[in-house]
Amino acid sequence: MSLINKKIVLGVTGAISAYKALELTRLFVKEGAIVLPVMTKAAAEFITPLSLSTLAKSPVYGGGGGLFELTQGSRISHIELAQASDLICVAPATANFIGKAASGIADDLLTTIVMAACAPVLVAPSMNTRMWENPIVAANVERLKAAGYLFVGPAEGELACGTSGRGRLAPVDDIVEAAIDALSVKDLAGEKVLVTAGPTREPIDPVRFVSNSSSGRMGYAIAAAAKRRGAEVVLISGPTHLCCPPGVTTVKAATAQELYDACAGYFPQSTIVVMSAAVADYRPVKSFPHKVKKEAGSLSVEMERTADVLKHMGKRKKKGQVLVGFALETENMEANARKKLDEKDLDLVVANSPAGLDSEMNQVTIIDKKGGAEPLQPMKKDLLADIILDRVVRLKRG
Ligand code: CTP
Repeated sequence: MSLINKKIVLGVTGAISAYKALELTRLFVKEGAIVLPVMTKAAAEFITPLSLSTLAKSPVYGGGGGLFELTQGSRISHIELAQASDLICVAPATANFIGKAASGIADDLLTTIVMAACAPVLVAPSMNTRMWENPIVAANVERLKAAGYLFVGPAEGELACGTSGRGRLAPVDDIVEAAIDALSVKDLAGEKVLVTAGPTREPIDPVRFVSNSSSGRMGYAIAAAAKRRGAEVVLISGPTHLCCPPGVTTVKAATAQELYDACAGYFPQSTIVVMSAAVADYRPVKSFPHKVKKEAGSLSVEMERTADVLKHMGKRKKKGQVLVGFALETENMEANARKKLDEKDLDLVVANSPAGLDSEMNQVTIIDKKGGAEPLQPMKKDLLADIILDRVVRLKRG
Protein backbone atom coordinates (compact mmCIF):
# COMPACT_ATOMS: atom_id res chain seq x y z
CA MET A 1 0.00 0.00 0.00
CA SER A 2 1.31 3.41 -0.83
CA LEU A 3 -0.15 6.88 -0.83
CA ILE A 4 0.20 7.30 -4.60
CA ASN A 5 -2.64 9.53 -5.87
CA LYS A 6 -4.44 9.39 -2.52
CA LYS A 7 -6.17 12.69 -1.75
CA ILE A 8 -5.37 13.74 1.80
CA VAL A 9 -6.99 16.76 3.41
CA LEU A 10 -4.34 17.85 5.91
CA GLY A 11 -5.95 19.90 8.66
CA VAL A 12 -3.53 22.07 10.61
CA THR A 13 -4.68 23.66 13.85
CA GLY A 14 -3.04 26.23 16.10
CA ALA A 15 -0.44 24.37 18.15
CA ILE A 16 3.23 25.21 18.48
CA SER A 17 3.98 21.95 16.66
CA ALA A 18 2.20 23.30 13.55
CA TYR A 19 5.66 23.74 11.99
CA LYS A 20 5.89 19.92 11.87
CA ALA A 21 2.91 19.90 9.49
CA LEU A 22 5.34 21.25 6.89
CA GLU A 23 7.57 18.19 7.15
CA LEU A 24 4.49 15.97 7.23
CA THR A 25 3.28 17.60 4.02
CA ARG A 26 6.66 16.98 2.40
CA LEU A 27 6.54 13.30 3.40
CA PHE A 28 2.96 12.84 2.16
CA VAL A 29 3.91 14.40 -1.18
CA LYS A 30 7.05 12.23 -1.35
CA GLU A 31 4.82 9.16 -0.86
CA GLY A 32 2.78 10.26 -3.88
CA ALA A 33 -0.24 11.75 -2.07
CA ILE A 34 -2.20 14.76 -3.28
CA VAL A 35 -2.27 17.03 -0.24
CA LEU A 36 -5.07 19.55 0.21
CA PRO A 37 -4.04 21.70 3.17
CA VAL A 38 -6.67 23.30 5.39
CA MET A 39 -5.59 25.69 8.12
CA THR A 40 -7.49 27.13 11.02
CA LYS A 41 -7.14 30.82 11.76
CA ALA A 42 -4.95 30.01 14.77
CA ALA A 43 -2.67 27.75 12.69
CA ALA A 44 -1.93 30.72 10.44
CA GLU A 45 -0.45 32.47 13.52
CA PHE A 46 2.18 29.71 13.75
CA ILE A 47 3.10 28.94 10.13
CA THR A 48 2.49 30.77 6.89
CA PRO A 49 0.02 29.49 4.30
CA LEU A 50 2.74 30.18 1.71
CA SER A 51 5.11 27.57 3.20
CA LEU A 52 2.34 25.00 3.42
CA SER A 53 1.08 25.72 -0.06
CA THR A 54 4.59 25.54 -1.55
CA LEU A 55 5.30 22.15 0.00
CA ALA A 56 1.81 20.80 -0.78
CA LYS A 57 1.93 22.16 -4.35
CA SER A 58 -1.69 23.19 -3.71
CA PRO A 59 -3.61 26.24 -2.56
CA VAL A 60 -4.21 26.41 1.18
CA TYR A 61 -7.83 26.47 2.24
CA GLY A 62 -9.05 28.28 5.35
CA GLY A 63 -6.72 30.15 7.68
CA GLY A 64 -8.52 33.46 7.41
CA GLY A 65 -11.10 32.92 10.11
CA GLY A 66 -14.19 32.93 7.89
CA LEU A 67 -16.59 30.03 8.01
CA PHE A 68 -15.94 28.56 4.61
CA GLU A 69 -13.62 30.89 2.68
CA LEU A 70 -14.17 28.87 -0.41
CA THR A 71 -17.16 30.47 -2.00
CA GLN A 72 -15.60 33.39 -3.89
CA GLY A 73 -14.10 32.07 -7.12
CA SER A 74 -13.20 28.78 -5.55
CA ARG A 75 -13.40 25.68 -7.71
CA ILE A 76 -13.91 23.42 -4.73
CA SER A 77 -16.48 23.53 -1.94
CA HIS A 78 -16.06 22.38 1.66
CA ILE A 79 -18.38 19.48 0.90
CA GLU A 80 -16.27 18.56 -2.11
CA LEU A 81 -13.12 18.77 -0.02
CA ALA A 82 -14.72 16.49 2.55
CA GLN A 83 -16.12 14.01 0.09
CA ALA A 84 -13.43 13.88 -2.58
CA SER A 85 -10.70 13.02 -0.10
CA ASP A 86 -9.48 9.53 0.71
CA LEU A 87 -8.32 10.60 4.16
CA ILE A 88 -8.63 13.56 6.45
CA CYS A 89 -5.59 13.92 8.68
CA VAL A 90 -5.60 16.60 11.38
CA ALA A 91 -2.03 17.20 12.54
CA PRO A 92 -1.48 18.85 14.89
CA ALA A 93 -4.91 18.64 16.50
CA THR A 94 -5.45 20.91 19.51
CA ALA A 95 -7.70 20.21 22.48
CA ASN A 96 -9.96 22.89 21.02
CA PHE A 97 -10.32 21.07 17.68
CA ILE A 98 -10.90 17.73 19.44
CA GLY A 99 -13.52 19.32 21.69
CA LYS A 100 -15.35 20.87 18.75
CA ALA A 101 -15.27 17.70 16.65
CA ALA A 102 -16.50 15.63 19.62
CA SER A 103 -19.35 18.07 20.28
CA GLY A 104 -20.51 18.35 16.70
CA ILE A 105 -19.48 21.99 16.38
CA ALA A 106 -18.66 23.11 12.86
CA ASP A 107 -17.73 26.78 13.04
CA ASP A 108 -14.83 26.95 10.61
CA LEU A 109 -13.73 25.29 7.42
CA LEU A 110 -11.81 22.42 9.01
CA THR A 111 -14.51 21.38 11.48
CA THR A 112 -17.08 21.65 8.68
CA ILE A 113 -15.04 19.36 6.44
CA VAL A 114 -14.54 16.87 9.28
CA MET A 115 -18.26 16.84 10.00
CA ALA A 116 -19.09 16.21 6.32
CA ALA A 117 -16.38 13.58 5.86
CA CYS A 118 -16.98 10.21 4.24
CA ALA A 119 -13.29 9.31 4.43
CA PRO A 120 -11.52 8.09 7.57
CA VAL A 121 -10.38 10.88 9.90
CA LEU A 122 -6.95 10.52 11.49
CA VAL A 123 -6.22 12.79 14.45
CA ALA A 124 -2.71 13.54 15.74
CA PRO A 125 -3.15 15.45 19.01
CA SER A 126 -0.61 17.95 20.29
CA MET A 127 -0.97 19.76 23.59
CA ASN A 128 0.35 20.23 27.10
CA THR A 129 0.31 17.05 29.25
CA ARG A 130 -2.21 18.42 31.73
CA MET A 131 -4.53 19.36 28.90
CA TRP A 132 -4.15 15.85 27.40
CA GLU A 133 -4.88 14.29 30.79
CA ASN A 134 -7.84 16.57 31.46
CA PRO A 135 -10.86 14.27 31.88
CA ILE A 136 -12.94 16.36 29.51
CA VAL A 137 -10.33 16.08 26.75
CA ALA A 138 -9.97 12.35 27.51
CA ALA A 139 -13.75 11.91 27.26
CA ASN A 140 -13.78 13.84 23.96
CA VAL A 141 -11.06 11.57 22.58
CA GLU A 142 -13.01 8.47 23.66
CA ARG A 143 -16.15 9.86 22.05
CA LEU A 144 -14.34 10.41 18.77
CA LYS A 145 -12.74 6.95 18.93
CA ALA A 146 -16.16 5.41 19.52
CA ALA A 147 -17.38 7.24 16.41
CA GLY A 148 -14.56 5.65 14.40
CA TYR A 149 -12.00 8.47 14.42
CA LEU A 150 -8.44 7.18 14.34
CA PHE A 151 -5.70 8.55 16.58
CA VAL A 152 -1.93 8.56 16.35
CA GLY A 153 0.01 9.72 19.41
CA PRO A 154 0.51 11.92 21.26
CA ALA A 155 4.08 10.98 22.13
CA GLU A 156 5.98 11.58 25.33
CA GLY A 157 8.86 14.01 25.63
CA GLU A 158 9.77 17.64 26.20
CA LEU A 159 6.97 20.09 25.56
CA ALA A 160 7.10 23.68 24.38
CA CYS A 161 5.86 24.90 27.77
CA GLY A 162 9.09 23.63 29.38
CA THR A 163 7.58 20.56 31.00
CA SER A 164 7.97 16.95 29.96
CA GLY A 165 5.28 14.31 29.50
CA ARG A 166 2.69 13.00 27.07
CA GLY A 167 1.33 15.52 24.61
CA ARG A 168 3.96 15.92 21.88
CA LEU A 169 2.79 15.51 18.30
CA ALA A 170 3.54 11.91 17.19
CA PRO A 171 6.70 11.68 15.05
CA VAL A 172 5.82 12.58 11.47
CA ASP A 173 6.95 9.15 10.21
CA ASP A 174 4.42 7.56 12.59
CA ILE A 175 1.69 9.84 11.23
CA VAL A 176 2.53 8.79 7.65
CA GLU A 177 2.47 5.13 8.73
CA ALA A 178 -0.89 5.66 10.46
CA ALA A 179 -2.23 7.30 7.28
CA ILE A 180 -1.14 4.34 5.15
CA ASP A 181 -2.65 2.01 7.75
CA ALA A 182 -5.94 3.93 7.71
CA LEU A 183 -6.14 3.60 3.92
CA SER A 184 -5.27 -0.10 3.75
CA VAL A 185 -7.90 -2.72 3.02
CA LYS A 186 -8.02 -5.09 6.02
CA ASP A 187 -8.02 -8.26 3.95
CA LEU A 188 -5.68 -10.05 6.38
CA ALA A 189 -7.86 -9.44 9.44
CA GLY A 190 -7.89 -12.55 11.63
CA GLU A 191 -4.66 -13.92 10.13
CA LYS A 192 -1.58 -14.58 12.24
CA VAL A 193 1.43 -13.84 10.09
CA LEU A 194 4.96 -14.93 10.88
CA VAL A 195 7.72 -13.17 8.92
CA THR A 196 11.46 -13.67 9.13
CA ALA A 197 13.93 -11.08 7.89
CA GLY A 198 17.58 -10.15 7.63
CA PRO A 199 20.76 -12.18 7.83
CA THR A 200 21.99 -14.43 10.60
CA ARG A 201 25.42 -14.15 12.17
CA GLU A 202 27.33 -17.31 13.00
CA PRO A 203 30.11 -16.44 15.44
CA ILE A 204 33.76 -17.44 14.98
CA ASP A 205 34.86 -15.61 18.11
CA PRO A 206 33.43 -12.69 20.16
CA VAL A 207 34.19 -10.15 17.40
CA ARG A 208 33.97 -12.11 14.15
CA PHE A 209 31.15 -13.91 12.41
CA VAL A 210 30.02 -15.51 9.15
CA SER A 211 27.07 -13.65 7.65
CA ASN A 212 25.70 -12.18 4.40
CA SER A 213 24.65 -8.78 3.09
CA SER A 214 20.87 -9.11 3.55
CA SER A 215 19.48 -5.76 4.75
CA GLY A 216 16.21 -7.18 6.10
CA ARG A 217 14.19 -4.59 4.13
CA MET A 218 12.07 -7.12 2.25
CA GLY A 219 10.90 -8.93 5.40
CA TYR A 220 10.32 -5.68 7.29
CA ALA A 221 8.23 -4.39 4.37
CA ILE A 222 6.15 -7.59 4.37
CA ALA A 223 5.63 -7.42 8.14
CA ALA A 224 4.56 -3.76 7.97
CA ALA A 225 2.23 -4.41 5.02
CA ALA A 226 0.62 -7.43 6.72
CA LYS A 227 0.03 -5.37 9.86
CA ARG A 228 -1.59 -2.57 7.84
CA ARG A 229 -3.82 -5.14 6.18
CA GLY A 230 -5.17 -6.20 9.56
CA ALA A 231 -3.03 -9.22 10.48
CA GLU A 232 -1.47 -9.96 13.83
CA VAL A 233 2.20 -10.04 12.90
CA VAL A 234 5.33 -11.50 14.48
CA LEU A 235 8.61 -10.52 12.83
CA ILE A 236 11.66 -12.60 13.68
CA SER A 237 14.64 -10.55 12.68
CA GLY A 238 18.31 -11.17 12.30
CA PRO A 239 20.67 -8.23 12.95
CA THR A 240 19.62 -5.18 10.87
CA HIS A 241 19.72 -1.40 11.19
CA LEU A 242 15.98 -1.08 10.55
CA CYS A 243 13.37 0.29 12.96
CA CYS A 244 10.80 -2.21 14.22
CA PRO A 245 7.55 -1.74 12.25
CA PRO A 246 4.85 -0.17 14.47
CA GLY A 247 2.27 -2.60 15.82
CA VAL A 248 4.38 -5.65 14.93
CA THR A 249 5.83 -7.98 17.60
CA THR A 250 9.51 -8.02 16.72
CA VAL A 251 11.73 -10.77 18.08
CA LYS A 252 15.50 -10.57 17.59
CA ALA A 253 17.40 -13.70 16.62
CA ALA A 254 21.11 -13.46 15.86
CA THR A 255 22.02 -16.99 14.73
CA ALA A 256 20.33 -19.62 12.58
CA GLN A 257 19.71 -21.66 15.74
CA GLU A 258 18.07 -18.70 17.52
CA LEU A 259 15.93 -18.08 14.45
CA TYR A 260 14.97 -21.75 14.36
CA ASP A 261 14.00 -21.69 18.06
CA ALA A 262 11.95 -18.51 17.68
CA CYS A 263 10.14 -19.89 14.59
CA ALA A 264 9.42 -23.17 16.38
CA GLY A 265 7.61 -21.19 19.08
CA TYR A 266 5.44 -19.10 16.74
CA PHE A 267 4.90 -21.48 13.79
CA PRO A 268 2.09 -23.70 15.21
CA GLN A 269 -0.33 -20.79 15.71
CA SER A 270 0.61 -18.95 12.50
CA THR A 271 -1.74 -19.06 9.51
CA ILE A 272 0.72 -17.47 7.07
CA VAL A 273 4.51 -17.73 7.14
CA VAL A 274 6.79 -15.66 4.93
CA MET A 275 10.40 -16.71 5.29
CA SER A 276 12.52 -13.94 3.80
CA ALA A 277 15.49 -14.26 6.18
CA ALA A 278 18.82 -15.06 4.58
CA VAL A 279 19.64 -17.85 7.00
CA ALA A 280 23.25 -19.06 7.06
CA ASP A 281 23.50 -22.64 5.82
CA TYR A 282 26.74 -23.26 7.70
CA ARG A 283 28.18 -22.20 11.03
CA PRO A 284 31.66 -22.63 12.52
CA VAL A 285 31.85 -25.93 14.40
CA LYS A 286 33.69 -24.16 17.17
CA SER A 287 33.11 -20.61 18.35
CA PHE A 288 36.18 -19.41 20.23
CA PRO A 289 35.43 -17.79 23.61
CA HIS A 290 38.33 -15.32 23.12
CA LYS A 291 39.40 -13.24 20.15
CA VAL A 292 41.46 -15.42 17.79
CA LYS A 293 44.99 -13.96 17.65
CA LYS A 294 46.75 -13.88 14.33
CA GLU A 295 49.58 -16.29 13.74
CA ALA A 296 51.87 -17.12 10.85
CA GLY A 297 50.25 -19.24 8.15
CA SER A 298 46.66 -19.73 7.19
CA LEU A 299 43.61 -20.31 9.35
CA SER A 300 40.95 -22.90 8.68
CA VAL A 301 37.50 -22.62 10.15
CA GLU A 302 35.57 -25.88 10.03
CA MET A 303 31.90 -25.36 9.27
CA GLU A 304 28.83 -27.49 9.93
CA ARG A 305 25.29 -27.33 8.56
CA THR A 306 22.61 -25.31 10.32
CA ALA A 307 19.02 -26.49 10.44
CA ASP A 308 16.89 -25.60 7.42
CA VAL A 309 14.18 -23.68 9.28
CA LEU A 310 11.76 -23.49 6.36
CA LYS A 311 12.11 -27.16 5.49
CA HIS A 312 11.23 -28.05 9.09
CA MET A 313 8.15 -25.87 8.92
CA GLY A 314 7.19 -27.40 5.55
CA LYS A 315 7.23 -30.84 7.17
CA ARG A 316 4.99 -29.68 10.02
CA LYS A 317 2.61 -27.62 7.90
CA LYS A 318 -1.06 -28.10 8.73
CA LYS A 319 -4.06 -27.64 6.47
CA GLY A 320 -4.83 -23.96 6.01
CA GLN A 321 -1.30 -22.74 6.73
CA VAL A 322 0.30 -20.91 3.81
CA LEU A 323 4.08 -21.13 3.57
CA VAL A 324 6.05 -18.68 1.43
CA GLY A 325 9.79 -18.99 0.90
CA PHE A 326 12.37 -16.95 -0.94
CA ALA A 327 14.97 -18.40 -3.26
CA LEU A 328 18.19 -16.54 -3.85
CA GLU A 329 19.71 -17.75 -7.09
CA THR A 330 22.61 -16.75 -9.30
CA GLU A 331 21.79 -19.26 -12.06
CA ASN A 332 18.84 -21.34 -13.34
CA MET A 333 16.60 -19.18 -11.19
CA GLU A 334 13.23 -20.68 -11.99
CA ALA A 335 14.30 -24.33 -11.96
CA ASN A 336 16.24 -23.95 -8.70
CA ALA A 337 13.45 -22.00 -7.04
CA ARG A 338 10.88 -24.60 -8.08
CA LYS A 339 13.08 -27.31 -6.58
CA LYS A 340 13.03 -25.44 -3.26
CA LEU A 341 9.26 -25.08 -3.47
CA ASP A 342 8.90 -28.86 -3.84
CA GLU A 343 11.56 -29.88 -1.32
CA LYS A 344 10.32 -27.51 1.39
CA ASP A 345 6.60 -28.07 0.64
CA LEU A 346 5.94 -24.37 0.00
CA ASP A 347 2.83 -22.75 -1.43
CA LEU A 348 4.76 -19.93 -3.09
CA VAL A 349 8.39 -19.19 -3.67
CA VAL A 350 9.73 -15.73 -4.46
CA ALA A 351 12.79 -16.14 -6.66
CA ASN A 352 15.31 -13.32 -6.72
CA SER A 353 18.95 -12.59 -7.45
CA PRO A 354 21.65 -11.13 -5.15
CA ALA A 355 21.02 -7.68 -6.78
CA GLY A 356 18.12 -7.19 -4.35
CA LEU A 357 20.09 -8.09 -1.22
CA ASP A 358 21.15 -4.70 0.09
CA SER A 359 18.83 -2.54 -1.98
CA GLU A 360 15.50 -0.74 -1.64
CA MET A 361 14.43 -2.37 -4.90
CA ASN A 362 13.96 -5.96 -5.93
CA GLN A 363 13.07 -7.86 -9.07
CA VAL A 364 11.43 -11.20 -8.46
CA THR A 365 9.48 -14.01 -10.06
CA ILE A 366 6.66 -15.45 -7.96
CA ILE A 367 6.33 -19.19 -8.51
CA ASP A 368 3.41 -21.30 -7.31
CA LYS A 369 2.68 -24.98 -6.79
CA LYS A 370 0.51 -25.30 -9.88
CA GLY A 371 3.38 -24.47 -12.22
CA GLY A 372 2.67 -20.74 -12.53
CA ALA A 373 5.57 -18.29 -12.74
CA GLU A 374 4.91 -14.55 -12.57
CA PRO A 375 7.91 -12.40 -13.44
CA LEU A 376 7.54 -8.89 -12.00
CA GLN A 377 9.18 -5.60 -12.96
CA PRO A 378 11.86 -4.20 -10.63
CA MET A 379 10.08 -2.26 -7.90
CA LYS A 380 10.46 -0.87 -4.39
CA LYS A 381 10.28 -3.52 -1.71
CA ASP A 382 7.26 -1.96 0.01
CA LEU A 383 5.22 -2.22 -3.20
CA LEU A 384 6.46 -5.76 -3.77
CA ALA A 385 5.46 -6.69 -0.21
CA ASP A 386 1.83 -5.94 -1.02
CA ILE A 387 1.96 -7.92 -4.27
CA ILE A 388 3.33 -10.97 -2.43
CA LEU A 389 0.56 -10.60 0.17
CA ASP A 390 -2.03 -10.19 -2.62
CA ARG A 391 -0.93 -13.59 -3.96
CA VAL A 392 -1.21 -15.08 -0.47
CA VAL A 393 -4.74 -13.68 -0.09
CA ARG A 394 -5.63 -15.13 -3.49
CA LEU A 395 -4.36 -18.56 -2.39
CA LYS A 396 -6.27 -18.36 0.90
CA ARG A 397 -9.49 -17.55 -0.93
CA GLY A 398 -8.88 -20.54 -3.18
N1 CTP B 1 16.14 -21.11 4.66
C1 CTP B 1 15.90 -21.55 5.94
N2 CTP B 1 16.90 -22.12 6.65
C2 CTP B 1 18.14 -22.26 6.14
C3 CTP B 1 18.39 -21.81 4.82
C4 CTP B 1 17.37 -21.22 4.10
O1 CTP B 1 14.78 -21.45 6.41
N3 CTP B 1 19.10 -22.79 6.86
C5 CTP B 1 15.02 -20.53 3.89
C6 CTP B 1 15.25 -19.08 3.45
O2 CTP B 1 14.73 -18.18 4.41
C7 CTP B 1 14.47 -19.02 2.14
C8 CTP B 1 14.56 -20.43 1.60
O3 CTP B 1 14.90 -21.26 2.71
O4 CTP B 1 13.11 -18.73 2.36
C9 CTP B 1 15.59 -20.60 0.52
O5 CTP B 1 16.80 -20.05 0.93
P1 CTP B 1 18.05 -19.96 -0.05
O6 CTP B 1 19.21 -19.34 0.67
O7 CTP B 1 17.64 -19.36 -1.36
O8 CTP B 1 18.36 -21.47 -0.39
P2 CTP B 1 18.85 -22.68 0.46
O9 CTP B 1 17.66 -23.49 0.87
O10 CTP B 1 19.76 -22.24 1.53
O11 CTP B 1 19.62 -23.52 -0.66
P3 CTP B 1 20.96 -23.16 -1.48
O12 CTP B 1 21.87 -22.49 -0.52
O13 CTP B 1 21.44 -24.49 -1.93
O14 CTP B 1 20.55 -22.28 -2.62
